[in-house]
Amino acid sequence: MPVILGIESSCDETSAAICADGVMLSNVIANQTIHEAYGGVVPELASRVHQQNIIPAVQQAISNAKVSKNDIDAVAFTRGPGLLGSLLVGVSFAKAFALANNLPLIDINHMQAHVLAHFIGDHKPSFPFLCLTVSGGHTQIVLVKDYFDMEVIGQTQDDAAGEAMDKTSKILGLPYPGGPLIDKYARQGNPNAYQFPEPQIPGYNFSFSGLKTSILYFIQNNVAKNPDFIQENMADICASVEKRIVTILLNKLTKAAQAYGIKDVALAGGVSANTGLRQGLQQLGEKHGWNCFIPKMGYCTDNAAMIAIAGYYKFLQGDFTNQHVAPLARMPF
Ligand code: KG4
Ligand code: ZN
Repeated sequence: MPVILGIESSCDETSAAICADGVMLSNVIANQTIHEAYGGVVPELASRVHQQNIIPAVQQAISNAKVSKNDIDAVAFTRGPGLLGSLLVGVSFAKAFALANNLPLIDINHMQAHVLAHFIGDHKPSFPFLCLTVSGGHTQIVLVKDYFDMEVIGQTQDDAAGEAMDKTSKILGLPYPGGPLIDKYARQGNPNAYQFPEPQIPGYNFSFSGLKTSILYFIQNNVAKNPDFIQENMADICASVEKRIVTILLNKLTKAAQAYGIKDVALAGGVSANTGLRQGLQQLGEKHGWNCFIPKMGYCTDNAAMIAIAGYYKFLQGDFTNQHVAPLARMPF
């Protein structure tokens, strides 16, 4: 019954989790509020806050799991992709903890871990399945053939879906991260109030930069006519933007599922917390007879539980790294 300590520090969440034999015993996430004023994550500030949070987060994860440090069999950590300074904090901590306690180290790809979050709990997808991984930095359609055999069949050519949410919210004068706020306002708005273009990109790839520009011009034109346009129409703007982002994502996912003849379809990443996207996938699943896998809210945005579960499957395969490992800002599958 391997007990795995998972560590995540790739962006602006410091997280630690304990997983015993594939069952999650704890998942502690320390969020960083310091970036709100800047409209995006400030890498240097993120690294400093990780440094302050990492030891309390790990202590809390061990205590919540009701295990002792001596029960841990391996340390799994996010090696990349992510902000290098942030990754360095988690990687260095993992190496020091492993050295001090004579434990093996397991390096994890953060994007694979988002997908593998679906193996926490009983409702697990069957291979091969498709996963739409949508976060602040990535937008990917992943063909998942096995735990660590994944192929990106489509991805964004410019901005990520979460970035489109965050940049839109910035245009609307909302704080970072804007995705959850767009979601909140969208619930009270009319998604058909305003029409935004759907980009015509070949295959299963995405583009969100044109959409961002069209939203910017739309807002500038309307604010020029009515300075209160945003305040008066916030809910309708958010609902219309959310609807367009969701249809861009789900149209490509449907195209891929049909082309690959796949019935198990999953969502992952921070944007999978979005209500419109979750409902949209559910409806598509009913229409096409898919088995849909929508992550629990706590496993959508960055968390160490997904690192611990990925670590568990690597542990079973005997796939370890060593003390020479270094973080990678870019880390392909
Ligand atoms: O996976 P994640 O936590 O971090 C990255 O690896 O990037 O994703 C963060 C992204 C942000 O862009 C945030 O605005 C977006 O996920 N997000 C949402 C929602 N919750 C988080 N976007 C739309 N609706 C939400 N409810
Ligand atoms: Zn992420």
